[in-house]
Amino acid sequence: MAAPRPILIFDSGVGGLSVAGAIRALLPTAPLVYAADSAGFPYGTKPPDLIAARVPALLGRLAERYDPALIVIACNTASTIALDGVRAALDLPVVGTVPAIKPAASLSKTRAFAVLGTDATVVQPYVDNLAAQFASDCLVIRHGSAELVDLAEAKLRGEAIAPERYATIMAAMLARPGGERVDTVVLACTHFPLVQEELAAAAPRELMFVDGKEGIARRVAYLASDVSWPDRPSDGIAIFTGGGADSDALRPALASYGLTRIETL
Ligand code: DGL
Repeated sequence: MAAPRPILIFDSGVGGLSVAGAIRALLPTAPLVYAADSAGFPYGTKPPDLIAARVPALLGRLAERYDPALIVIACNTASTIALDGVRAALDLPVVGTVPAIKPAASLSKTRAFAVLGTDATVVQPYVDNLAAQFASDCLVIRHGSAELVDLAEAKLRGEAIAPERYATIMAAMLARPGGERVDTVVLACTHFPLVQEELAAAAPRELMFVDGKEGIARRVAYLASDVSWPDRPSDGIAIFTGGGADSDALRPALASYGLTRIETL
């Protein structure tokens, strides 16, 4: 019997590992290819036109090389900007990442929550539409942080990070008008669940955190419900577009997600 085609999980960097973890929890033996566009990283500070052109082309190359059963764009920035373009370009099921605004609106008791994402994501009309559709009775604060993306990357490379760095980011978010009412934070960048504990510890008060990774994993399991996965997990592949510079330091973190083979595009 032919081996099942892998699930291809894509992000600019290591953020999509938060999604990979949720997919592995649900489908522990599904073969995974994790692709990080390290040559294009970070996406959150790049012009949207560049992301809109780059992501479909890159996913086309990756799809040719790995022949995945489906693709997960485990990146809010790429999804909010390029999801339609990818779906138009590829003849494969593509699951995107949607900021968890709907769950936040149902959780928030104060009717005020923050969307913490990249600078590019928080200004996307996609976010405005979700807020209008699901949170019209809530104050929705938008806060972008490129620094927090770097901190998540550094954490996974095993670097020590001073807790004050997280505290400064949380304080800046909560200093926005109405921030004192916020009781819930949408982690609208896939890097951020990787540092959720640090953010919670650095927050000036108890806050609820929500993200979309479990929803994505359920969607993937549903779309792949006719696939018979192997009995045992296989070695997952991590592929980087930007050479091997960072991948050595990331080896232990990648291995903890079952990604033991490292390749470059
Ligand atoms: N992980 C990505 C996201 O979910 C973005 C990180 C970056 O700026 O490249 O938005």
